[in-house]
Amino acid sequence: MKNKFYITTPIYYANAQPHIGHAYTTVATDALARFYKLQKTKTFFLTGMDEHGAKIAQKAKEESKKPQELVNEVSDDFKKLWQELDIEYDNFIRTTNPEHKKAIQVSLQTLYDKGVIYKGEYEGLYCVGCEQFKNESDLVDGKCPDHNVEPEVMKEESYMMKMDERQTELIQKIESDDFKIRPEKYKKEILSFLKNNELEDLSISRKNVNWGIPLPFDETHTAYVWFDALLNYLTGLGWNGDVNKIPDFWPANIQMLGKDILRVHATIWPIMLMHLGIELPKQLFVHGHILSDGKKMSKTIGNVISIDEMLEKFGTDGTRYLLLSAGTFGEDIDITIERMVEKYNADLANGLGNLVSRVVKLSENIDFSNIERKIYDPIQWNKMFIESLWFDKALERIWSHLVQKSNKYIEETKPWELAKSSKKEFEKVMEKLVEDLYFIAQLLESFMPETSIKIKQQLETGKKEILFERIK
Ligand code: ME8
Ligand code: MG
Repeated sequence: MKNKFYITTPIYYANAQPHIGHAYTTVATDALARFYKLQKTKTFFLTGMDEHGAKIAQKAKEESKKPQELVNEVSDDFKKLWQELDIEYDNFIRTTNPEHKKAIQVSLQTLYDKGVIYKGEYEGLYCVGCEQFKNESDLVDGKCPDHNVEPEVMKEESYMMKMDERQTELIQKIESDDFKIRPEKYKKEILSFLKNNELEDLSISRKNVNWGIPLPFDETHTAYVWFDALLNYLTGLGWNGDVNKIPDFWPANIQMLGKDILRVHATIWPIMLMHLGIELPKQLFVHGHILSDGKKMSKTIGNVISIDEMLEKFGTDGTRYLLLSAGTFGEDIDITIERMVEKYNADLANGLGNLVSRVVKLSENIDFSNIERKIYDPIQWNKMFIESLWFDKALERIWSHLVQKSNKYIEETKPWELAKSSKKEFEKVMEKLVEDLYFIAQLLESFMPETSIKIKQQLETGKKEILFERIK
């Protein structure tokens, strides 16, 4: 398919409530997807839930629920959050859905028939938090650094997938940017990992985890949860497992993910696709983690910033704005509620909000129906910034070039005085302000969709409404 854009988020584990990190990836993905939709590119935005595996089974047990009951509840919580954040996805894939399960079984059978999957035994370390096998070199003081727990020693019969026979090809595809990994530092990190380690064959089944998809050729095993999860990027487009019937939207143009799951996405995932004879995604875009006051968020430290609290304080578009402008997308970013309140008051309540209310009030009695509303093309203006995923720079540019300048222009020209002295001068000034504000509204469309509409409506109808209430 030509002129198309397929973008994905990770599918999130359905074992706990959605948090700010999930919101961060998803809001960024939404902004990018909306921007392509604005350009009339055929766009598909996929997100969803990762619902199988030991981690979920354990959590269900703790809560005395059936796993299916737990994942149904958690999926609903995520969907509700996406609605509150105005996330316009095209499909919400859940790995417990029967079509997905069927496609996974078909893929497993294909690889088994090809001899790429064989019966063996796995012996090693496993972190349930990551749902990943660990090398000694991945551990810090014998513990998984991401979950701060000692991995389990696992020794069991398992079906294995061949890995190293594809390693050279994978390195070549990453080096040539056939399979792009961005930002550049993550490409380097993965290349250095692949050049210094021979990939071991991967255990792709579990004998002791019931909550998963049974292998079609041995029902006493279930599929390894990452094997099941990664293929969501194809089943989410309606793929049924037939390698001769790849959906038109494939390959993904950009797959968004956090650095915590880069290794899996840059090794297991492309190798599965190569074995299946399916094209690799064009690009992985990796972002850093949100830190709270310089530290990893943790319940023990008590520095968790809740997404619900953000929504309550800043509203939908306030939250979207603060997440997208918090720092360079790709790097780790550090936030605190105090700094976000300051930024909200400065940029939104006093900055944009104030501008809108002043312009709408001053232009109450003017007929702007003939106003030229296209000084520049808003898509061209944003294009390089948004398509490079420089969300913070794109917003910063709108504020410094337009929002702050317009507010300053009002202070300098004092239109309320002009209104008394020279009607012509007054109308000229107001025309420029209205034009610029309309342009701001257009530029904000993919970042703050509701605000964009509201600004246009206020300009068109003169109806006044406070967009961002100041926080005391
Ligand atoms: O890993 N800062 O799901 P998950 C920024 N199910 N982003 C963060 C973050 C933080 N502190 N914490 C999480 C899984 N994220 C698997 C994925 S995909 C086939 C399967 C975001 O619920 C970030 O996108 O642990 C990260 O990669 C993802 O949530 C992990 O979500
Ligand atoms: Mg995680």
